Amino acid sequence: MRKPIIAGNWKMNKTASEAVSLINELKPLVADADADVVVCPPAADLAAAAQALKGSNIGLGAQNLDYHDSGAFTGEVSADMLLDLGVQYVIIGHSERREYYAETDETVNLKVKKALEKGLIPIVCVGEKLEERESGVTAEVVRKQTKLALLGLAESEVAKVVIAYEPIWAIGTGKTATADDANDTIKEIRAAIREVFGGAADEVRIQYGGSMNPKNASELMAMSDIDGGLIGGASLKAEDFSKVVNY
Ligand code: PGA
Repeated sequence: MRKPIIAGNWKMNKTASEAVSLINELKPLVADADADVVVCPPAADLAAAAQALKGSNIGLGAQNLDYHDSGAFTGEVSADMLLDLGVQYVIIGHSERREYYAETDETVNLKVKKALEKGLIPIVCVGEKLEERESGVTAEVVRKQTKLALLGLAESEVAKVVIAYEPIWAIGTGKTATADDANDTIKEIRAAIREVFGGAADEVRIQYGGSMNPKNASELMAMSDIDGGLIGGASLKAEDFSKVVNY
């Protein structure tokens, strides 16, 4: 049995003091959740967020990390820096980072390896563009992204990874994949993992992401292979996010 995991990707929203307010509002609303609950504020908010989350059932995630240990990498944040703040999860390879910050399957793989080596749980994003979906190559695209992200990992490491399937055309657009389509693609992702890593595929939690909200969460979460959600817009309001968590 895979425990559901619902994570909020705040993207570049909320100052540190706003983050603390949102967390304080959220804590009582999700205190009885059956799922693992995670918030991923911007890097500049992580220290304040960690403090505000103390004693709660909400985990802390970052939105990115560098794959080097330390050194001359201006503007970057290392795994050790995140761990020292109490961060447990890190989103890797979000489509916005692939599109605007030139992340590739190769750098995603390096970041996944670094996160696992250091003891952070990676939330690895994969997903097809609209033209890929319309050309009927969704399965190939997500299979390839998944295999390349996990390249060279041990089976025991793969079991810890969380994958977020996010069709790019559904992110921030209000368009959601149908629950059946999302589930079918997630099955493809799990099958691709099984081809390389065998039974570890059954332990990997695979989230859906892309305009998931209080209205569609229960239908998506009822599907056989959807193990959670990566929530953008709806994670910025405590009430909306808590409704997704308590789907
Ligand atoms: P959205 O974002 O829920 O606003 O579509 C999801 C994401 O990008 O992780």
